[in-house]
Amino acid sequence: MRDQAEKLRKIVQQSRFANHTPLPAKNRAKTRVIAVTSGKGGVGKTNFTVNLALALAGLDQKVVLLDADLGMANVDVVLGCPATYNLLNLVEDRIHIEDVTVNGPRGIRFLSGGSGVYELANMNSVQIQHTLSQLSTLEDWADIILVDTGAGIGRNVLDFVIAADEVIIITTPEPTAMTDAYAMMKVYAGQRGSSPLRLVVNRVLDSQEGRDVTERLNTVATRFLGLQLHSLGMVYEDTNMRQAVKFQTPVLLAYPDSVASQCIESIARKLLYTGSPSVLTGIRGFFNRIFDII
Ligand SMILES: Nc1ncnc2c1ncn2[C@@H]1O[C@H](COP(=O)(O)OP(=O)(O)OP(=O)(O)O)[C@@H](O)[C@H]1O
Ligand SMILES: [Mg+2]
Repeated sequence: MRDQAEKLRKIVQQSRFANHTPLPAKNRAKTRVIAVTSGKGGVGKTNFTVNLALALAGLDQKVVLLDADLGMANVDVVLGCPATYNLLNLVEDRIHIEDVTVNGPRGIRFLSGGSGVYELANMNSVQIQHTLSQLSTLEDWADIILVDTGAGIGRNVLDFVIAADEVIIITTPEPTAMTDAYAMMKVYAGQRGSSPLRLVVNRVLDSQEGRDVTERLNTVATRFLGLQLHSLGMVYEDTNMRQAVKFQTPVLLAYPDSVASQCIESIARKLLYTGSPSVLTGIRGFFNRIFDII
């Protein structure tokens, strides 16, 4: 078991870029900012988001992963990349965006939101401008920024959901997870009108179960909320996922042929090839809204 963990850690190390590598130009004009959220906690958001980032990087996308789960940030644990700084440190003159983003496997960059983005509220306007201009430099590099939020309809989750140009909601087939997903959709519809929401059903036992959950949520979202749900697909229940978490290595790297990895790769392709909304406000738009809200 220890040998296997060591082997997996090496795979991750080898695929990491050295820090301070100059950032090459990105593939598209505006960065897609995509928040991943859920109604109920523990449905697999963090694991999904980390592995989706890797799958997108495998499709030649430059990806930034923002851990915005302020209460229980753990992207670093799933990714196996501890962060020394977080975005609050950007206010300091000597610390630059390259120091704050950690290089992860497949060239993805990880940015920790820190344990209290609400400290941003204590910044004066000069500090806010300085922080924003540092964050904006990511716009030149990143094709996609994936935001792992906390669960539920609390303020600190909703702020990120409202600020992002695109939102993916995750549920499992459990009735409690579906009820909470509906509660989140209701709040989303109240804040964002009928902007389309993307859905992923995690931990399904077979494709019929995934289709049933999608259909039931779609029916209530359309009928009661006037909300369009776009299905991105499903991820099967897979013990490799739990095993990978134990080794602190994303399943996509530890078990690339596993069914969970295949599902996430297919979702990444769908996310890329079905396109983005016509109006993208990019990283600057996203953080401007976060600062405005706070
Ligand atoms: N497809 C899957 N198959 C099997 N187990 C899974 C799957 N997806 C997630 N899990 C398990 O669920 C656990 C919780 O996942 P994760 O931490 O990603 O959830 P979360 O939604 O981010 O939780 P929180 O709301 O606390 O942030 C993981 O540790 C993993 O063991
Ligand atoms: Mg999480």
